[in-house]
Amino acid sequence: MADKKAVLKIDGKDIELDVRSGSIGPDVIDINPLYKHSGAFTYDPGFTSTASCESKITYIDGDEGVLLHRGYPIEQLAEKGDFLEVCYLLLYGELPTAAQKADFDNRVTRHTMVHEQMSKFFSGYRRDAHPMAVMVGTVGALSAFYHDSTDITDPHQRMVASLRMIAKMPTIAAMAYKYHIGQPFVYPKNDLGYAANFLHMCFAVPCEEYKVNPVLARAMDRIFILHADHEQNASTSTVRLAGSSGANPFACIAAGIACLWGPAHGGANEAALNMLMEIGTVDRIPEYIAKAKDKNDPFRLMGFGHRVYKNYDPRARIMQKTMYEVLEATGRHNDPLMQVALELEKIALSDPYFKDKKLYPNVDFYSGITLRALGFPTTMFTVLFALARTVGWIAQWAEMIEDPQQRIGRPRQLYTGAPKRDYVKLDDRG
Ligand code: CMC
Repeated sequence: MADKKAVLKIDGKDIELDVRSGSIGPDVIDINPLYKHSGAFTYDPGFTSTASCESKITYIDGDEGVLLHRGYPIEQLAEKGDFLEVCYLLLYGELPTAAQKADFDNRVTRHTMVHEQMSKFFSGYRRDAHPMAVMVGTVGALSAFYHDSTDITDPHQRMVASLRMIAKMPTIAAMAYKYHIGQPFVYPKNDLGYAANFLHMCFAVPCEEYKVNPVLARAMDRIFILHADHEQNASTSTVRLAGSSGANPFACIAAGIACLWGPAHGGANEAALNMLMEIGTVDRIPEYIAKAKDKNDPFRLMGFGHRVYKNYDPRARIMQKTMYEVLEATGRHNDPLMQVALELEKIALSDPYFKDKKLYPNVDFYSGITLRALGFPTTMFTVLFALARTVGWIAQWAEMIEDPQQRIGRPRQLYTGAPKRDYVKLDDRG
């Protein structure tokens, strides 16, 4: 029984609802019994006031610009940790000991290869297919290759599926890239770290030696950390909803990838760089600021604004620092797009429209310039987001499956269509 109660008055009747408190963050009003007692649903399109689940994984304070994974601030994880350590943390709830970390790295590394037949599967795609389309299809197809880890009632199979996806996602993403540019696939090299191995699979060719630049590998790893999880965003909620029906984890992650692709979500990194390229020079910024403010123009500043952050996205600050490091290491410190981005941010942050609406740069604003400097085409940007977010999706999916309260997700609606009416024969319709 909760101590705090909320009372809702409807049709002269008082309905008492429990108010539950988390460890930090806003309270929630438990409306579960509402329909039983009142016959009414709640209505919240876009879930602006709705907590869809209970979770112990990630916490965001959007007003303060805070992001915690299992309690640890993103700044500390990005500065001091590595991506596989963050994966362990998200999956198991605690940072690993040295022995646990070595064992986890080894377990993930053992799964980096994909079934050899998958390379034939790739040749069914058109060469000009968007790599995200290839990701949706190929990750969905994993359940056709790994039947021995699709029984969601078996904790061992759940963990094997989780490790497989974390391990194979870089291999599949690199294959999508190689297929896109017409180069042969490069097999994983298990003596390299997670991010270095990914860069090697993307940029090595069989005809010459490729040495991964450690500064770029560290930057890639940090970019993965920044994207690892973000509580109940659209793609994570998609994974949870797909998983609530008992669908296998590979299918659920494919659903998450499909949702991530949209430009309002993960697709914003590609859209943000395309926007910066379209603006091109600093003198054209006012024109685009005016377009973004014009109610009759659908244009939005991509990489700006967030449903939860009403302050600077903490990931954007770390991304900006990473951008400087990558541009320096690749000799692009005078990248004209960086100048456009910095100036755009400056102008937008001093403009009353953006200030009043609390629109700040989000993680996608600086990621495009950074990923381009790393050597990726814009079409790969959202693929990299999907690769990194896989662990978050998996951790959230596993938490849901293990939750004894878990039931199939089944929202209701406010029906505004035609009331019941009788069928009219074709000849009698006017
Ligand atoms: N440029 C111009 N105006 C904006 C922008 C923008 N980027 N974002 C929001 N607004 C305005 C919007 O027009 C609305 O104005 P009004 O109240 O006058 O109608 C107000 O701000 C609130 O916008 P909203 O669409 O109701 O806010 P939302 O919470 O539903 O949408 C968002 C959040 C991220 C989809 C939106 O800010 C946006 O479209 N941003 C650009 C795309 C983007 O960068 N997405 C990446 C998000 S971070 C990575 C991730 O987690 O996926």
